[in-house]
Amino acid sequence: MSDSRTAAQLSKLEILAQKNQEALLGGGQARIDAQHKKGKLTARERIDLLLDEGSFEEIGKFVMHRSKDFGLDKEYYLGDGVVTGYGTVNGRLVYVFSQDFTVFGGSLSETHAEKIVKIMDLAMKNGAPVIGLNDSGGARIQEGVVSLGGYADIFYKNTLASGVVPQLSAIMGPCAGGAVYSPAITDFILMVEDTSYMFVTGPNVVKTVTHENVTSEELGGASTHSTKSGVTHFTAPNEVACINQLKALLSYMPQNCEETAPVVPYEAGQDESRAVLDSIIPDNPNQPYDIREVIEGIIDTDSFLEVHQNFAENIVVGFARLGGRSIGIVGNQPAVLAGVLDINASTKAARFVRFCDSFNIPLLVLEDVPGFLPGTDQEWRGIITNGAKLLYAFCEATVPRITVITRKAYGGAYDVMNSKHIGADMNYAWPTAEIAVMGAKGAAEIIFKREIAAAEDPEAKLQEKVDEYQQKFATPYRAAHRGFVDEVILPSQTRQKLIRAFKMLENKVDTLPRKKHGNIPL
Ligand code: HXC
Repeated sequence: MSDSRTAAQLSKLEILAQKNQEALLGGGQARIDAQHKKGKLTARERIDLLLDEGSFEEIGKFVMHRSKDFGLDKEYYLGDGVVTGYGTVNGRLVYVFSQDFTVFGGSLSETHAEKIVKIMDLAMKNGAPVIGLNDSGGARIQEGVVSLGGYADIFYKNTLASGVVPQLSAIMGPCAGGAVYSPAITDFILMVEDTSYMFVTGPNVVKTVTHENVTSEELGGASTHSTKSGVTHFTAPNEVACINQLKALLSYMPQNCEETAPVVPYEAGQDESRAVLDSIIPDNPNQPYDIREVIEGIIDTDSFLEVHQNFAENIVVGFARLGGRSIGIVGNQPAVLAGVLDINASTKAARFVRFCDSFNIPLLVLEDVPGFLPGTDQEWRGIITNGAKLLYAFCEATVPRITVITRKAYGGAYDVMNSKHIGADMNYAWPTAEIAVMGAKGAAEIIFKREIAAAEDPEAKLQEKVDEYQQKFATPYRAAHRGFVDEVILPSQTRQKLIRAFKMLENKVDTLPRKKHGNIPL
């Protein structure tokens, strides 16, 4: 830090070179070594990995904190614990901030916050994504309320930027206290396994308040947040993999809400039919199959990027490409809980639908859903309000929306899963589709209750009525007669049909009634 030479003894160029060198070292070599020892990269190494080589332009490299309390008047670091600026990822502009744990544990001071807010303002004015690489001990404790104010300034900007430019948060170290709320407002969170964690209060406070003994990892590690809470959308085994995920994710998104996602050059083959899909639905309607196989059978090869892979696995959501164009996919997963809609599945899918709609990414829904999950647990925890989120999200989405009913479309879930009635543009069904108020057995038991009870052989009567209901309703044709399904298609034709239909819809213009904003049931 200290230099025995005075400024007068150094040429002005040398002063600059020295300051640049000092800034690059952050909190000093010893702390950089300690960071590496924990298996973590430094703030600058992360930026180098993220951005195209040589594209980074730093902003605010020499910013220093203003506080003087608790020894801060004697300890200054150029940059103040966060490296901010802009650069390109695969040639596309992004703004980035990367917290430097070697400077006061990456803690957030007033000036640290100002640097982040500055690049967020630039991102909004110039229409490019903001990427946050988070590694911070939270509010800078020595600064008190000005640090809290700094957080609030960031939360406010996050909220204003929401839906304007994509905001992505990689968690690459601790993220405690108020520090978790900025990532929570952004569009996607990615966590590194074993070296990152997020919680509102750490294990010590938890022990004091609730007497629970819990480790940081159990409380807020990557596996907890990817499976139990759903706070994180992605996890990665290490930082390099995490940064690669960030880049992959960006490739499906436009720069801002006025643009569409980049199109990857795609040469249509002579034959786009996928015969494998014709045999994917089991003969027995209660036998599961993996919706991911249907997805893979429809999309461009290896283009699926699943979001929230290990959370609410009864619904699968993610980005893919179809004929080179980005789409968002929401698919019920018959292989988990028969693909039923529950609270977590509804909120997971609703948030994904809203992201896609905010950023002009067309939506494909693959439907095989027996209904909403019954029971006190779900009812008491608000399946009504939470299921309504998904319904609302589809209803208000104005991007091109297509549904393919592969098998079951029962009850309210038929309506919710992007039905024609709530604004889907094209609705297809496979010949295996069953579209009805409920499954045949449940339906027969209710509507033929008396007839069955009075029958000589009630079981035979029940079976007869089940068959009758099945034949009448457990098909796609009733819906097709009414135009609720636009076409019943062969599974093997699905890819071709969807490429054409999305192309047909690519100039879709749809608007919502004038309002300040809607009131989605939260
Ligand atoms: C100032 C901090 C700091 C902080 C860490 N440091 N957190 N300095 N403010 N919040 C400093 C340490 O003094 C140390 O300085 C260096 O960073 C590294 O910290 P260590 O503790 O040595 O590292 P490690 O063992 O890896 O532990 C990291 C940690 C721990 C888990 C993050 O430091 C920690 O628990 N920090 C406090 C977390 C916290 O409670 N923050 C406030 C949350 S409340 P030296 O000089 O030794 O290198 C909050 C309110 C916001 O954020 C509300 C907004 C709504």
